[in-house]
Amino acid sequence: MSPHTPRPYPDCRELADGFVLSSPAKVNLQLQVKGKREDGYHELDTIFQELDWADDLEFRPAGAFEFSVEGADLPTDRSNLVTRAAEALAERAEVACNAAILLRKRLPLQGGVGGGSSNAAIALLGLNRLWGLNWGVARLLPIAQALGADCPFFLHGGLARGTGRGDIIEPYSGAIRSRFVLLTPAFGVKTAEVFSNFPSRLTEVERNVIFRPLWTEDESGVHPQIFPCNDLENIVFRTFLELQELRDRLIRAGARVALLSGSGSTVFGIFDSDEAARHAAHGLSTTDRVQVTVCRAVARTRE
Ligand code: C5P
Repeated sequence: MSPHTPRPYPDCRELADGFVLSSPAKVNLQLQVKGKREDGYHELDTIFQELDWADDLEFRPAGAFEFSVEGADLPTDRSNLVTRAAEALAERAEVACNAAILLRKRLPLQGGVGGGSSNAAIALLGLNRLWGLNWGVARLLPIAQALGADCPFFLHGGLARGTGRGDIIEPYSGAIRSRFVLLTPAFGVKTAEVFSNFPSRLTEVERNVIFRPLWTEDESGVHPQIFPCNDLENIVFRTFLELQELRDRLIRAGARVALLSGSGSTVFGIFDSDEAARHAAHGLSTTDRVQVTVCRAVARTRE
């Protein structure tokens, strides 16, 4: 099935004794910072796009909480958002926190593609099913919001706008038609540090809005709400010049739009065809210590 054919969220595969949910990556097609809030967070206007690049979370019934990780050296205690999500849901639902969860990690850590937030939101959706709670997204939302500003998006997937801290989600139908090439260097970027360096006077923010249309998959044309830009780019590029160089390489390789995703460290380019994306990825894969990923946007069915 083409990722552009809308399908229910999240992708699910049944096992003999449980089920697997995929825990996808996102990019921010637009990330505007509107100001600093009283609670210390920043007011955002952002557009999330789910990609067909994902971790897997396996869920099985168990007599205790057993959480393990393959593919990355990650703690499984309360410093892991999956454990915090499970404990928070069990407490709210007043059930025992019993489940066996296996996380197969593929997405980069501190990579700006939302891996940890995605895992946490998918843990909520998976345990909601495993424990037979049958809660709707609206009931899971406050738990997701408390876990992190990116978590609520991952209760919906697909294409969506985020306002407030980025945690008030308006799901859109459709997806961006183009192909994505993502470049992830070997280092991560700490989101809190990036926001702490954001100027308090918004007039000091240089906004590189890219006036290049993004096409929706139904070829109706430009999505009216999307202005590709990322207000965090200049702050991050000041510290990590290498990331600006990676973005510029994507542009030179023919990307229609190239941006830092979230607070980085991943940068992504949007290409008009599979061929253009593959060709660019081939040329860029000679770069040392940079992971090159070619993927597509995913569209989700909306009620
Ligand atoms: O919510 P989350 O823990 O993912 O955010 C990480 C950090 O990024 C926050 O502690 C905060 O410093 C910063 N942040 C922000 N404004 C947002 C989202 C995140 O200042 N809208």
